Amino acid sequence: MGVHDTVFVSATTAVLLVLMIQSSLAARLPIKSDVPFAQNYYVRWADDHTRMLNGGTEMHLVLDKASGAGFGSRTKYLFGHVSMKIKLVPKDSAGTVTAFYMSSETDKHDELDFEFLGNTSGQPYIVQTNVFANGVGNREQRHYLWFDPTQDFHSYSFLWNKQQIIFYVDDVPLRVHKNNEAIGIPFPKSQPMGIYSSLWNGDDWATRGGLEKINWDHAPFVAAYKGFSVDACAGGVESCSAPRGNWWEQEAFQSTDEETKSKLKWVKDNYMIYDYCSDGKRFPTTPADCGQF
Ligand SMILES: *[C@@H]1O[C@H](CO)[C@@H](O)[C@H](O)[C@H]1NC(C)=O
Repeated sequence: MGVHDTVFVSATTAVLLVLMIQSSLAARLPIKSDVPFAQNYYVRWADDHTRMLNGGTEMHLVLDKASGAGFGSRTKYLFGHVSMKIKLVPKDSAGTVTAFYMSSETDKHDELDFEFLGNTSGQPYIVQTNVFANGVGNREQRHYLWFDPTQDFHSYSFLWNKQQIIFYVDDVPLRVHKNNEAIGIPFPKSQPMGIYSSLWNGDDWATRGGLEKINWDHAPFVAAYKGFSVDACAGGVESCSAPRGNWWEQEAFQSTDEETKSKLKWVKDNYMIYDYCSDGKRFPTTPADCGQF
């Protein structure tokens, strides 16, 4: 290859690189700053089973035989990007459930769930996700993760606008829930939701379907949290429903681009272990929102 060819190749590569960077920038999630827990959150349950660290920028939930614990946001939000950095219960976490979710907490509630199901030492956590609209859920998916979630903090987030809800693990989309109101399926878009997290005993179902019980000799179980800023519209339909120029409303976030689709496929092919859409036993007729991707 001559000098000229080399120059030509690198020029082409450079153009490609710029294009790739631009296209991936299009749907990049912004990096958020850290703020103290108390700015946006409060302890809702079992104050004595929580710990504040580093000036309130890190907090721990503690589960022992006496109690688990939980916290929630001070206000409710309609649309935005809601994320939390979590380091899950290490070592033997069998039977424990760490939940990070949004809920409107009404009669016919909307809810978005991440539930982290613990496991015996060295065995993989399961992440169960679900979407409720108007009080109806039954949209469980289950995944393994591509890393050990007990070693470091990772961010788990919901990108929520009128067109879709994307569940992210760091910057990898785990799941997309589209607005399918066009075919008569309710979509969470009119009930503001609070942000919640809790650590509790779920050993009647969580690990290997409930076979593996909590070993209290290994208590206390601790989940650690950071990243308490909230990038979402605080308020309800009046204040958040009309377009307000927020970044999550932009076109880049209204549909799934090619990069998002290929990452979703990678997750599905390698880490998905359960999908309500392919559970013919439970749903002899495939739910209407399946395949509407
Ligand atoms: C726990 O580990 C077992 C064995 O590897 C696995 O079958 C199961 O899916 C894991 N996770 C949970 C939450 O049960």
